[in-house]
Amino acid sequence: MDWYKDAIFYETHIRSFNDSNGDGFGDLPGLTAKLDYFVDLGITAVWLLPFYPSPLKDDGYDVADYTSIDPRYGTIEDFTTLLDEAHRRGLRIVTELIVNHTSDQHPWFQRARRAPAGSHERDFYVWSDSPDRYPDTRIIFTDTETSNWTWDPIAGAYYWHRFFSHQPDLNYDNSVVRKAVLDVMDFWLDLGVDGLRLDAVPYLYEREGTNCENLPETHAELKRIRSHIDTYPDRMLLAEANQWPSDAVAYFGEGDESHMNYHFPLMPRLFLALARGDRGPIEWILARTPEIPASAQWGIFLRNHDELTLEMVTDEERAEMYGFYARDPRAKLNVGIRRRLAPLLENDPRRLRLMFSLLLGLPGSPFIYYGDELGMGDNLDLPDRDGVRTPMQWDGLLNGGFSTAAETFAPVIDDEVFGYRSVNVATAVSDESSLWHWIRNAITIRKRHPAFARGAVEFLNPSDPAVLAFALHHEQDSVLVIANLSDSARRADLDVEGFDEFSGTKYEGLHLEIEPYGFRWITPLPAGGEVA
Ligand code: NOJ
Repeated sequence: MDWYKDAIFYETHIRSFNDSNGDGFGDLPGLTAKLDYFVDLGITAVWLLPFYPSPLKDDGYDVADYTSIDPRYGTIEDFTTLLDEAHRRGLRIVTELIVNHTSDQHPWFQRARRAPAGSHERDFYVWSDSPDRYPDTRIIFTDTETSNWTWDPIAGAYYWHRFFSHQPDLNYDNSVVRKAVLDVMDFWLDLGVDGLRLDAVPYLYEREGTNCENLPETHAELKRIRSHIDTYPDRMLLAEANQWPSDAVAYFGEGDESHMNYHFPLMPRLFLALARGDRGPIEWILARTPEIPASAQWGIFLRNHDELTLEMVTDEERAEMYGFYARDPRAKLNVGIRRRLAPLLENDPRRLRLMFSLLLGLPGSPFIYYGDELGMGDNLDLPDRDGVRTPMQWDGLLNGGFSTAAETFAPVIDDEVFGYRSVNVATAVSDESSLWHWIRNAITIRKRHPAFARGAVEFLNPSDPAVLAFALHHEQDSVLVIANLSDSARRADLDVEGFDEFSGTKYEGLHLEIEPYGFRWITPLPAGGEVA
């Protein structure tokens, strides 16, 4: 029923993962051939970025056909093979339902712009005679867009778009649109997809006098979508609602909207807390996060395919984070930082493990972004967010083992620190002290303790502000997570009884010394007091 609560998610792009036919693009057979890689790491669910036919001006979030697959990635048959092979291994597959907008190349838009004003066809999108409607709505892609309206000379009207101007927003006031979106859902759910990520879900409706986000009409629509998905057994909706906690929790409804939603406001605060060596920002945001329905679950993430968004921090905090994490001005994009995890953390193994210990230790289900388990780097010479979407690095051979093509869709990372010759799966798997092995071990521990996935959190407030300490309790199980966010050794004045799952060290009421960027996952001693 609620498999997503215990899930370990892995986010990847078919195009970036593994190329089976040597055309330079990753594809479905390539991904299917690597399913055992996920199982080995302990992953239980894979979230795939958009793979639909698209002009790729927003890397597939500009959909031109919702019910086909870009031929470079494969066919529907390849997709059902992927599903079968994944399910055979106990892996779930989550895909994208891009509900808010389409590409301007989608036949719906091409038809709409030519249809008479006021017709159902025209009303698939949101039109206006002037660019002045809904003036209280923010612009999201601030580096490229100056307005949420763009003039269409063919229609002789402006159309509404919350993202790029080539991504017109669908008009949810039109019942034909609502039905069409449910039909798209059915198409993928009937094939056997386990979950749908609802891209940009807060923006479905527009109303004058509002900021056009989180409107009651949008929540009512999400309830309809939920009741529809509930006609299928065991499926999951994952909302992408980059909102303040009180607005974000609304996307769970009363257990009748999405099953999951990412904790966007927490993510930058993990980095802020690390930069300051102070747990304050993490506790502050979690204290402002309301309870969620019993069936709901947060999605926790460090990095994803987008920029590290700084929309949910204050102007001062944003400036502080730019100063710390985006010293290279090319790293700034829109309201965020377009870097991968390892470069953000200066490839410091201590900080990488510490951040993964939080990703896997904080309440919610973790999402690992492909390649971050290796400490992969990025490429700031590529435009937009392409620099964090480069080919997966499998080994030290041609194109990092990703493809045999002379040219790949994007260059493989080949710099001194993060290049594929040293940073790759083969090297990581063969080195027991690698980050990859550490993550795999941490996932194993996490799976042994249901308190991680399902526990209620209790903050323990040690007197040293650099030390974050919280307990998770679920039925008979409990874990204590302690993290030193600073670059100096610290003391946690906590009465700790139990043993550290990583080192096996026993603690009996001791005040614990923690090395710089150190952490512990402490569980009660087994009966008899002996650590296996
Ligand atoms: C959110 C996606 O994560 C991002 O990659 C995309 O550009 C926007 N939605 C627009 O679809």
